[in-house]
Amino acid sequence: MNEFAERADTVAINRSMTHFDGHSQVWLFGYGSLIYKVDFPHIERRPSSIRGWTRRFWQGSHDHRGTPDAPGRVVTLIAEADAMCVGVAYLVSPETFAALDVREKNGYLRLATDLTLDDGRHVNGLVYIATPANAAFLGAASERDIALHISGSTGPSGANRDYLLHLADALRQLGADDPHVFAIERELLRL
Ligand code: SIN
Repeated sequence: MNEFAERADTVAINRSMTHFDGHSQVWLFGYGSLIYKVDFPHIERRPSSIRGWTRRFWQGSHDHRGTPDAPGRVVTLIAEADAMCVGVAYLVSPETFAALDVREKNGYLRLATDLTLDDGRHVNGLVYIATPANAAFLGAASERDIALHISGSTGPSGANRDYLLHLADALRQLGADDPHVFAIERELLRL
């Protein structure tokens, strides 16, 4: 692992989080690849939303959809008062987080959040967020520039464009309106 990848690795920080210690089941909110790539055991899966966050293709990907030298672009959540982000909630056993921490290790930190499930229940759970302070964060760009970037990136998990197209399809299936994601998808398909 090179020095940069080491600094961007959040596994150890996430492992030391104790927020749900003693709980036998924990809700996890997914808003990016966790919506459509479900390679972890779960007890329940439900459409869900969280408030105060908006989805943005502002996070660099060194390990999935790009490389440390040519990072791809993937989503994170950016704080925005009154915003609502639609995604999917999974009820998981705490042991599941060991593998999820590795999957989300490129800058994402577990954060406790309130979620609203599609059956109206309000629950407390966890979400992985890559904040602007992480070493892989790329930040804002125009939707066209983001589409161009995505069209040229690929990494160990495959083409960056597939991440975008799968996410856009999954959001349509959820009935979620996400102007940012759909605008980038339109730009990409026009290239
Ligand atoms: C998530 O899906 O909730 C986190 C970001 C990602 O893995 O794409």
